[in-house]
Amino acid sequence: MAGRLEGKICLITGAAGRIGRALVDGFVEAGATVIAADLVKLEHEGVDAVVCDQGDVESIAKLEEYIKAKYGRVDCLVNNGALGGNRCNVHEKPLQEYEDVMRVNVRGPLLLTQSVLRLHLAEPTRPLSIINMASIAGRRAVSLGSVYSMSKHALLGLTKSVAREYADKNVRCNAISPGVMEVPNMQGFDEESLSKLMSTVPVGRGGKPLEVAHLAVFLASDEASFITGSDYLIDGGSSA
Ligand SMILES: NC(=O)c1ccc[n+]([C@@H]2O[C@H](COP(=O)([O-])OP(=O)(O)OC[C@H]3O[C@@H](n4cnc5c(N)ncnc54)[C@H](O)[C@@H]3O)[C@@H](O)[C@H]2O)c1
Repeated sequence: MAGRLEGKICLITGAAGRIGRALVDGFVEAGATVIAADLVKLEHEGVDAVVCDQGDVESIAKLEEYIKAKYGRVDCLVNNGALGGNRCNVHEKPLQEYEDVMRVNVRGPLLLTQSVLRLHLAEPTRPLSIINMASIAGRRAVSLGSVYSMSKHALLGLTKSVAREYADKNVRCNAISPGVMEVPNMQGFDEESLSKLMSTVPVGRGGKPLEVAHLAVFLASDEASFITGSDYLIDGGSSA
């Protein structure tokens, strides 16, 4: 991947999370200048780690000011930060979960997208790539995960809208939809239910965060110049 993103300023959200850290590693390896945003500060040599609340208008305005002053632009935004929500049936979902998950998973990416578009449209000469981390749950229902699933369906709506509206402004917008991942601390799963889940994946294992990062690096790069409005499943054949 070395050199693919040389000279590109890339803003990655949820950077301190399980997939976020792999995204940061992948983008750094590809030569990008990485601004790593999260609620908690990521400790990672060679990246610009910033703390922000992606659901908060003021926090994103501050981030935009900071980026404008220091870099002047963003070449790639990876909307990766998200909340998972609890596992329970629709009729039992606390409304608070809806408020919290939609705030982070939908309002957050919308605010960040608006922010990088503002920076970009001031001088739309360089390509801008926006990558939204969706989920297999944005394509179909996952048991007991209705609110999370709703949020990822909405994120795919944003992806397609941005792709269509800004295609003539040097902007590409795509989504990545991971399936079952091999990551620690899977909320609501014990060891038995987790191994049952893994056994449903045709390749026989969950995806690795770095495999997601490799796809994101490609979508961020100019090699993907004709790709916009697409949603890439990365699920080991689960949807086949
Ligand atoms: N892990 C999986 O199995 C899986 C599967 C499909 C899709 N995804 C998607 O991949 C992405 C990353 O998943 P992950 O497993 O690394 O999640 P994670 O929970 O490990 O990381 C999410 C990060 O988002 C940050 N975050 C939460 N609220 C925030 C806020 N208000 N402002 C700023 N940052 C905030 C958290 O601090 C955390 O570091 C998410 O969009 C998730 O929906 C994950």
